[in-house]
Amino acid sequence: MARLLVRDLAQAATPVAGRAPLRGRALGEVEVLEHAYVLCSGGEIEAVGRMADLGSLGGEVEELDGRGLCAIPGLIDCHTHPAWGGDRTEEFSLRAAGATYEELHAAGGGILSTVRATRALDDEALAERVALHASWMLRDGTTTWEGKSGYGLDRDTELASLGAVRAAGGSPTWLGAHAVPPERRDADDYLDYALAEVLPAAARLADAADVFLERGAFDAEQARRYLGACRQAGLVLRLHGDQFTESGAIPLAVSLGARSVDHLEASRAAGIAELAASDVVGVLLPASALFLGRPMPPARALVDAGAAIALATDFNPGSAFTTSLPLVCSLACTQLKLSPAEALAATTVNAAHVLGAAGRAGRLAPGLAADLVLLDAPDWRHLAYHLAGDIVAAVVKGGSVAYHR
Ligand code: NIG
Ligand code: FE
Repeated sequence: MARLLVRDLAQAATPVAGRAPLRGRALGEVEVLEHAYVLCSGGEIEAVGRMADLGSLGGEVEELDGRGLCAIPGLIDCHTHPAWGGDRTEEFSLRAAGATYEELHAAGGGILSTVRATRALDDEALAERVALHASWMLRDGTTTWEGKSGYGLDRDTELASLGAVRAAGGSPTWLGAHAVPPERRDADDYLDYALAEVLPAAARLADAADVFLERGAFDAEQARRYLGACRQAGLVLRLHGDQFTESGAIPLAVSLGARSVDHLEASRAAGIAELAASDVVGVLLPASALFLGRPMPPARALVDAGAAIALATDFNPGSAFTTSLPLVCSLACTQLKLSPAEALAATTVNAAHVLGAAGRAGRLAPGLAADLVLLDAPDWRHLAYHLAGDIVAAVVKGGSVAYHR
């Protein structure tokens, strides 16, 4: 593979070096080089520097014109639900007319309507849908992503979902405890089935396990049982917690040594303090709060208390139909009162940590993956500033141009 020189950039901007996940003051520190270049070789970043310091390069070097553009690390989406069929336009319209997400869920709509549509797809069609969603992510600047199952809730569809995520280049998470499917008596009966019949194969396909700990889904005791078995099987642990009600997700995540607890819209002071004192990352999903018209998570309080946070889209058909991390960064600054620098770190290096990839990706530094987004802007902060803007000019993945508009 030839080397790739991205030259004459207006800026190259990266979160600072430091032990991931970044917290506190370090979360808000970005290094910016003006009139910069990024040199990639063998799929990795070889050097980042100022054009004025670029010596002559021997050998074959492909060049990419960076005039008027800013380079940032490839964005990392550490929480998505890409494996589903159908859509939820009907429910979207009902919500616009006043119905709530929880009411629709309780009436057998919501997640379960997507379960019906997903089970109706054959494996190939499901894989095509996941690949389509992955192509949307790439155009939005996402170079590394996690993708959950959870719309199958039977062995074959869950395993097909995990396989499709891996095949499309994602890191699969088994969201085996997303909802109770109609053919099971109750949550405990479903967990008996899922842990006995699905977990052994899911553990071979997935990197992590996740549970929807919420009124109407799984309670803290059921979540503990599910996650305990998944940990035993070698999976990293994640939780959906405190989305609508504070239900013990933070204490459970801390006691199990989970990698992350995600959502947190309903978390209050004691939970915030407990999370801040732990190694568990709080993954904030402001696009989902926006899409449902719900309160935003207490991001500023979490960061100020010293918690490690990441930001993600929560891409799914019901509560967050967007693959745009630039939009999430805009929401982080306008709604969560995070700085552009904090938003950048939360969608790059800290999100990489959630996926166990902080040593490989998430910053512009020699030796890390040559994954970059070239922003069509004179200042990297347009990433968050340009609300729903057409900001991604090109994406470099593993040292090759993967998208150019
Ligand atoms: O993270 N809250 C649970 N799961 C998803 C939504 C799933 C759906 O509505 O289809 C979420 O918001
Ligand atoms: Fe989610």
